[in-house]
Amino acid sequence: MKVLGESYEHDRIKIAGNFIYPGYVVMGDAGSAMIDCGLNILGPQYLASLRTLMGDEENLEFLFLTHSHYDHLGAAPYLRRNIRGLKIGGHEKIEALLAKESVRNRMASLSEIQRAFFPDVGGDDVSFAPLSLDLKFSGGERISPAGVHCEVYSAPGHTADSLAYFFPEIGALFPGESIGVPEGRDGAGVQVEFLSSYDDYLKTIEKLASLQPTIICMAHAWIFTDDDAKLFFDNSIRATGTYKKMIEAALDETHGEVDKTIELIARREYDEKGTIFQERNAYVMNLAAQVRLIAGR
Ligand SMILES: [Fe+2]
Repeated sequence: MKVLGESYEHDRIKIAGNFIYPGYVVMGDAGSAMIDCGLNILGPQYLASLRTLMGDEENLEFLFLTHSHYDHLGAAPYLRRNIRGLKIGGHEKIEALLAKESVRNRMASLSEIQRAFFPDVGGDDVSFAPLSLDLKFSGGERISPAGVHCEVYSAPGHTADSLAYFFPEIGALFPGESIGVPEGRDGAGVQVEFLSSYDDYLKTIEKLASLQPTIICMAHAWIFTDDDAKLFFDNSIRATGTYKKMIEAALDETHGEVDKTIELIARREYDEKGTIFQERNAYVMNLAAQVRLIAGR
């Protein structure tokens, strides 16, 4: 089954905030853990959802981050300020990254572009701030938030600090963008996301496929289950190879000029197809990283 997060029903998996930038909440008997917390401007929405889901936001024990992109950890500083006792876990590299003012400013400006799409977010202080991690992961950790077992996997390729969280008792995988993201109105396509390493990205897809999750809570919008979850890995591997060939062909067309290649692909893939719902600046930034990787091979 492929279902948009807003229509998904599961007694242990809930969505806080907005299903496009979901904060996935795994409800345990003794508390709960949230995976990712998208845009900083959506901080108040995550908090409101948590109050609805669990009565008191302080029942959220853990926040786990999949990677260091602004649309996955954006509200972490806000949630830290607003939820007493919240323990935040993520890749050990995230602390050093968010300690840099230039990185925080860049994340803040990318988030502000999104404000037009979310006019009702209110005036709370959602500013980025340095973030100290209570749990520093590098992959291989086993933890039991709220009495539910969780395995942490290193999942590089999208970013070097990507992590995936797998809850074997529920069969649920939270891969962030480490395996790509469903694309198009029916989620049948795959948006390819190798920003830090093409080879690592493919290895990560294969490694996470071997876990055989029955539920994949995608980074944005979609939840795939059962046969569709299984198929997604194959489709993603195929799409990754196709995407690399497309970049190579475009580099040939522009005689290896990277900036022209980025413009060419953005026009064809984003503007003309119109199937990518990511904000355009963020799309072009990711595309540029991929073109540079392939050009440098
Ligand atoms: Fe990302």
